[in-house]
Amino acid sequence: MISKETIEKILDAAQIVDVVGDFVALRRRGANYMACCPFHHEKTPSFSVSPSKGIFKCFGCGKAGNSVNFVMEHEQLGYVDALKFLGRKYSIEIADREETEQDAQNRLRSESLLAVTQFAQEFYTDSLWNTDQGVAVGLSYFKERGFDEALIKKFMLGWAPSGRDSLSKAALKAGYKKEFLIAAGLSIERDSDKELIDRFYDRVMFPVHSISGRAIAFGGRTLRADKTVAKYINSPETEIYIKSRTLYGIFFAKSSITKMQKCYLVEGYTDVLAFHKSGVENVVASSGTSLTTEQIRLIKRFAPEVTILYDGDEAGIKASLRGIDMLLEEGLRIKVVLFPDGEDPDSFARKNSPEVLKQFLQDNQEDFIAFKTRLLSAETKKDPIKRAQLIQEVVASIAVIPDAISRAVYIEECSTRLNISEEILSTEVKKLRKKRQYGAYSTEYTPAPEPGVPLYFPVLETGERLPEFITNTYCEPAERELLYYLIKFGEHPLYGADEENPASVTVSQFILTELSNDDLELQNLIYKNIFDEYYLVKEIGQQEIQKHFLNHRNQDFVNVVLDLLHKEHNLTIKQFVAEIPPEEHLLSTMVPKSILIYKAKITAIAYQNLCKDLSLAEKDKDSIRQNELMEQLQILMHIRNSFSKELKRLTI
Ligand code: CTP
Ligand code: MN
Repeated sequence: MISKETIEKILDAAQIVDVVGDFVALRRRGANYMACCPFHHEKTPSFSVSPSKGIFKCFGCGKAGNSVNFVMEHEQLGYVDALKFLGRKYSIEIADREETEQDAQNRLRSESLLAVTQFAQEFYTDSLWNTDQGVAVGLSYFKERGFDEALIKKFMLGWAPSGRDSLSKAALKAGYKKEFLIAAGLSIERDSDKELIDRFYDRVMFPVHSISGRAIAFGGRTLRADKTVAKYINSPETEIYIKSRTLYGIFFAKSSITKMQKCYLVEGYTDVLAFHKSGVENVVASSGTSLTTEQIRLIKRFAPEVTILYDGDEAGIKASLRGIDMLLEEGLRIKVVLFPDGEDPDSFARKNSPEVLKQFLQDNQEDFIAFKTRLLSAETKKDPIKRAQLIQEVVASIAVIPDAISRAVYIEECSTRLNISEEILSTEVKKLRKKRQYGAYSTEYTPAPEPGVPLYFPVLETGERLPEFITNTYCEPAERELLYYLIKFGEHPLYGADEENPASVTVSQFILTELSNDDLELQNLIYKNIFDEYYLVKEIGQQEIQKHFLNHRNQDFVNVVLDLLHKEHNLTIKQFVAEIPPEEHLLSTMVPKSILIYKAKITAIAYQNLCKDLSLAEKDKDSIRQNELMEQLQILMHIRNSFSKELKRLTI
């Protein structure tokens, strides 16, 4: 935690005009300043800064706040990081909270890795600009490719000298430890003599930056035409470089992505650079691999739309179509731009002026599902089987879109485009959604339950992730309810299986998935211990599990489980139905519902607690804390709303 005094010092120093002025060209108008808003695209200024009030406000998009909020929004930082950012700007020292020994060790270790990686980046950059070989080979190559000096410097491109151990030697000499050179993926210990050799040599170097702008890895490209030499060598995964969470260029792109509200996705390092050269800065690269969910979420933090840029290679495009459904699934709007045959984003940007490039992107972007439909229908012609496949393909994409309204719009559009009734499309989409839910949880085959099991599909559709600050909220009755279903029915299938969907998911799998998706743990220690132990012994089968707990040497366990097993069917539907169906036939509704109630309850409790904290903060006139709490309140309010909608849906 940053101390209150320090926060005040920072707030005093960080005058709004000064802070905003670093990023936006402000013009004085009366007592205030105006500019074009950095958070949305506009031609006439509606972004106003008031030095006397210390706030900014955009009358176009509604964003408003103080200096800290501005930095948070503009640099996409959290509250504490924004304060640190301002602290650095005004040279105010920030003492971090006391750390545990483990924290300190971890931090020291990743700091060490970051430090040695930064050393390497500086070493490669220095070699590029200040050694004969670097200038003659590396720098001249970059320039030939059309990168100017400013661009080369901005991206901190470098040269790894041809000697096998230049970097390792220099780093050891500068006092960096062998251990960290190896752990950062920069050096490799030679088996024969335990000497360090460099991973990268005789290559031009592209440093990969973290979202906050620190070098965390490298890609090195050989300039040799020799086919036996790998074109790129990349850093291995390390403690500071988790590939699935990194996008090349994100640091240099994030403020532009926020501003443009969209992100271009390209394949390679050079595509990113060529676009920057042309003034298109909202671009990141997946570095030749397919996108991960984490990378998608990273983009989604900044903008709701991604445009994927393809070179004209049709086979490549087709291979990637499925991966794109993953983007839709995360709720992003997806567009596609197809470059002319033989061109990739890099070559196109180099051959054409920035204006032509921007116009081309503008004119050629096409909605992904429309694009996919067009691409695939080109080959179906009149072949009915192919046509059926096409429809399935399109349905597959629509089905993963989380937002029901968007799905409906797509169904309508595709019905026209494919000349097929909306009803059929809509039924197919529903079927698939149902199926997908099976797939999401199931890990093993479970035999079909008795016939007559009602097939509800009360899948949690809120798509909400609970924020971390509420995950340790305690609600005893809701926790108990979950434990009840676990102990009594944990190994029962949650959904009935049918011919179409032979696989099902057990109650215990479902509960575990739902809790761990939100990093939730039961707060009652006895319940939590029973919960954890359940998953250790669950292979022995439901009855044996119950026996296991009833004969447990921990008397607390015995009491809790005894109590649960004797609990009555607590269904509220008793009043509505003439004959109460056996409880195990209602699991598909009751279990998701009790999960949802559990989440809704802790959200409500956390909400109340926040309100109390807020009134305390108001009394204390602690405006920073108030801000923080208000933000959290808003998040919870939003979640509460979607929970109550979902609960209505789940009511039988
Ligand atoms: N890539 C890789 N390893 C390879 C080939 C490619 O990691 N052996 C990754 C790199 O991130 C590269 C991207 O895939 O940037 C795209 O590959 P490619 O188009 O071959 O490379 P470019 O960066 O476009 O290089 P150039 O234009 O110089 O050929
Ligand atoms: Mn290329």
